[in-house]
Amino acid sequence: MKIVMIGSGYVGLVSGAGFSETGHDVICADIDKSKIERLQRGEIPIFEPGLDSMVARNVAAGRLSFSNDVAGSIAQAHIVFCAVGTPMRADGAADLSAVDAVALEVAKSATRECVLVMKSTVPVGTNARVRRLVEGAKHTVHAVSNPEFLKEGDAIGDFMRPDRIVVGVAPEDAFARDLMARLYHPLNLDQDRIVWMDPASAELTKYVANTMLAMRISFMNEISVLCEKVGADVHHVRHGVGSDARIGPKFLYAGPGYGGSCFPKDVSALIHTGRDHGVELELAVATDQINRRHKGVLFRKLRALFDGDLRGKRIAVWGIAFKPRTDDLRESPALALIDSLLAEGAKVAAHDPEAHANARALYGDRVELVDDPYAAAANADALVLVTEWRPYQNPDFERLKGSMRRAVLLDGRNIWSGYGLRKQGFLYEGIGVHGS
Ligand SMILES: NC(=O)c1ccc[n+]([C@@H]2O[C@H](COP(=O)([O-])OP(=O)(O)OC[C@H]3O[C@@H](n4cnc5c(N)ncnc54)[C@H](O)[C@@H]3O)[C@@H](O)[C@H]2O)c1
Repeated sequence: MKIVMIGSGYVGLVSGAGFSETGHDVICADIDKSKIERLQRGEIPIFEPGLDSMVARNVAAGRLSFSNDVAGSIAQAHIVFCAVGTPMRADGAADLSAVDAVALEVAKSATRECVLVMKSTVPVGTNARVRRLVEGAKHTVHAVSNPEFLKEGDAIGDFMRPDRIVVGVAPEDAFARDLMARLYHPLNLDQDRIVWMDPASAELTKYVANTMLAMRISFMNEISVLCEKVGADVHHVRHGVGSDARIGPKFLYAGPGYGGSCFPKDVSALIHTGRDHGVELELAVATDQINRRHKGVLFRKLRALFDGDLRGKRIAVWGIAFKPRTDDLRESPALALIDSLLAEGAKVAAHDPEAHANARALYGDRVELVDDPYAAAANADALVLVTEWRPYQNPDFERLKGSMRRAVLLDGRNIWSGYGLRKQGFLYEGIGVHGS
């Protein structure tokens, strides 16, 4: 079975490599010429743990290749995946222009009856829209919805061992159903992970899942504000609440607000879909509003620590990516902090294990990007931890204290012990914690 993945970004590349790992023949195609050239040279344009070896292995086995020729790739396919971006439009809705372009290209270039599988996150109704776009094509194109749930940083594990595989296919479409079942057969051996449904439900499932997770984070961020007012510790509250089996421990961590390429835009797109249909999704609206406000929390705390004057202060930032184990900066809370600091006239020295190239493309020399985290903190008036990469979890605090201008630590992920650090002479602040 020949698979073509259109869009070779975080989702397309991981999924393409993953399908080739299960024995399928895959072409990852993209209109970004330089991305494809790098892939053809054996370079991986993104940081995702384990992806480089998986790609190399499958390229060497002749099962995985890369192409700029989108039309020519489609011509060979039994299954075409659409994994292009669906960014947020200015009005908050999802921008479907790349999805439309892919559907039209498939209609034009398919040389046999094939299935077009939507992996991009797209609003309810997109499957119907795609069907209209491929209507009248020379060869029948079956439109299937198959939203992706992988997490950057653990994407390969998520792809190879998914909690579930949601497949939205019209009940009468036996051709598409059979091909999808065969495609996922290798990932489905130990247990049946496919959840079959209609395409509209599959499209909605993806947005509801992301909004539910974002909602948990926003709720705990809101509770962290209350904790600070009443002298409670959000760390204990989270533990106490998350131990309830009905609630569970995940996505209950207070922090600097959620970021990434998915939650902000997907919550916004769901709100927009609701409004399009006359439904005000009030919990989703609150989730989004809380997050927008909360993304300023680190800056507000810093400002308060320096009596409202950050001009000329040197602020060290540890972690720029929106979460550990990725180089993805999209909507990262670190960007909100850095932008505010620069606007206030502070100097920013930042470190991230993987995101310097992307940060340099954004900030040029306006932010000092330092290869060693201790060097970033040297002479700093404060050190802010934004992303909880492992190497930051247990640093040499004595060394930091000896090299910083002021011993001020702002722990945006509550991973350090405020109690111990205050005893060591630091001014420590976290998010909704009193430092036990
Ligand atoms: N990143 C994630 O963690 C994640 C997880 C689940 C779902 N998603 C969804 O998957 C989709 C892709 O996300 P991503 O993070 O991989 O995006 P990305 O920006 O990393 O990659 C998208 C790729 O599509 C290419 N592209 C755009 N238009 C094209 C066209 N007409 N033909 C061929 N290629 C084209 C771009 O050049 C780019 O390389 C989005 O809808 C996103 O919401 C992302």
